[in-house]
Amino acid sequence: MAHEPPHTMGQQHGRRSWAEPWKIKMVEPLAVTTREERAAALVEAGYNTFLLRSRDVYIDLLTDSGTSAMSDRQWAGMMLGDEAYAGSRNFYNLEAAVQRFYGYRHIVPTHQGRGAEHLISQTLIKPGDHVPGNMYFTTTRLHQELAGATFHDVIIDEAHDPESLHPFKGNMDLAKLGALIDEVGADRIPYVSLAGTVNMAGGQPVSMANVRALRALCDRHGLRLLLDATRMVENALFIQEREDGYGDMPIAAILREFCSHTDGAWMSAKKDNLVNIGGWLAVNDDAVFEELRNLVVVYEGLHTYGGMAGRDMEALAIGIEESVQDEHVRSRVGQVRYLGELLTEWGIPIVQPVGGHAIFLDARRFYPHLEQDLFPAQTLAAELYLDSGIRSMERGIASAGRDPETGDHHRPKLELTRLTIPRRVYTQAHMDVVAESVKACHDARDSARGLRMVYEPKYLRFFQARFEPIS
Ligand code: F0G
Repeated sequence: MAHEPPHTMGQQHGRRSWAEPWKIKMVEPLAVTTREERAAALVEAGYNTFLLRSRDVYIDLLTDSGTSAMSDRQWAGMMLGDEAYAGSRNFYNLEAAVQRFYGYRHIVPTHQGRGAEHLISQTLIKPGDHVPGNMYFTTTRLHQELAGATFHDVIIDEAHDPESLHPFKGNMDLAKLGALIDEVGADRIPYVSLAGTVNMAGGQPVSMANVRALRALCDRHGLRLLLDATRMVENALFIQEREDGYGDMPIAAILREFCSHTDGAWMSAKKDNLVNIGGWLAVNDDAVFEELRNLVVVYEGLHTYGGMAGRDMEALAIGIEESVQDEHVRSRVGQVRYLGELLTEWGIPIVQPVGGHAIFLDARRFYPHLEQDLFPAQTLAAELYLDSGIRSMERGIASAGRDPETGDHHRPKLELTRLTIPRRVYTQAHMDVVAESVKACHDARDSARGLRMVYEPKYLRFFQARFEPIS
């Protein structure tokens, strides 16, 4: 292993280039249910997969968030938890790992990604401000709005087209951003919000050329550029595969270079970083850091734990190091692609190209007879659960919520059902089972009737909303 660069390893073993660079040491039995049991569970859950109990789920593709398997090294790290209230040694290991692999100067730990989003939004945004970003993410946009900002989607148009094969559908449209700056003025833009692999667009990456150009534009206007680094490691793989000049560069080096174009980042460590809970916020600016370090004690905990136990910070520090290994990233994304290729061969409409963390079924084309107000993606998630006990997540009109001004639904162009793959958890045979179940739902698509929402919570409604089938 030591005698060749890690990023060429898998390829030299030939055809099975994405085979997992680990073996299984501990297993967790899965529940198998009958169709009658699943039908009853769906009624109980109001046809919302977030409200199902995990004991009723067979293959859980709700999210890749906090659902990954930790390594033996990470579990060993859990035993080294220094649970001191202040100055835990695990915090310093975490700080060193973020500085080494992401390159930022100052680190604030948080309990998970939205804790970091809350702190950065409260610190930088003033009421009446505007935040441009490459498509919204649910919690990110809500924290920006709660702090008083209006969010503006300035992603390239291709991102909204599930059939476009653009290699970097996560890119910012610099013309749209320029127009927004002209319209509202740079002084009303506290930061530009850039996500590495855009979750809601299908896990689509941002190119290095785009972040470089974005940096130059921000510099011309004196704007801060902040990164949602949640799945930035996966973004680095796409740069390695698709962008000229990066084919021989290790993932870790691509990650560092990308982050060097930004002024800071927030992180849901529950994704890329391979832990079940945790997050962090990192900035280069001393004055911003001072404010964040003060605010974290109000909402999360002291600035050397931020809501995490010492043992969790240790597992996170080790997870960061494991997460940037080329073989790991190639295997992780390779498994997602394997599922995507099966579905594509079988003519199932999915977002193309396949992204980093999930397959997104295109519910508009899956159920062309269902209008968007009948929640086609939510319907598909329910049908898939009923068919096989596979749990997926709606990413369409329910997730998009309502316009705070008009109170009407946001009606996103993308109406998607997400099959999210946890890291290091399921096997290729599980992926086959998933593909077969999706095909069974596709074969039965004409009988789907849609859903109506019968309970709607005020914030992030998709988590707790309840539905009933249209008869
Ligand atoms: N940013 C992105 C891009 C995310 O995908 C998430 C979470 C967050 C921020 C918030 O982080 O959950 O740790 O508070 N996404 C999960 C998902 C929930 O299923 O996609 P968090």
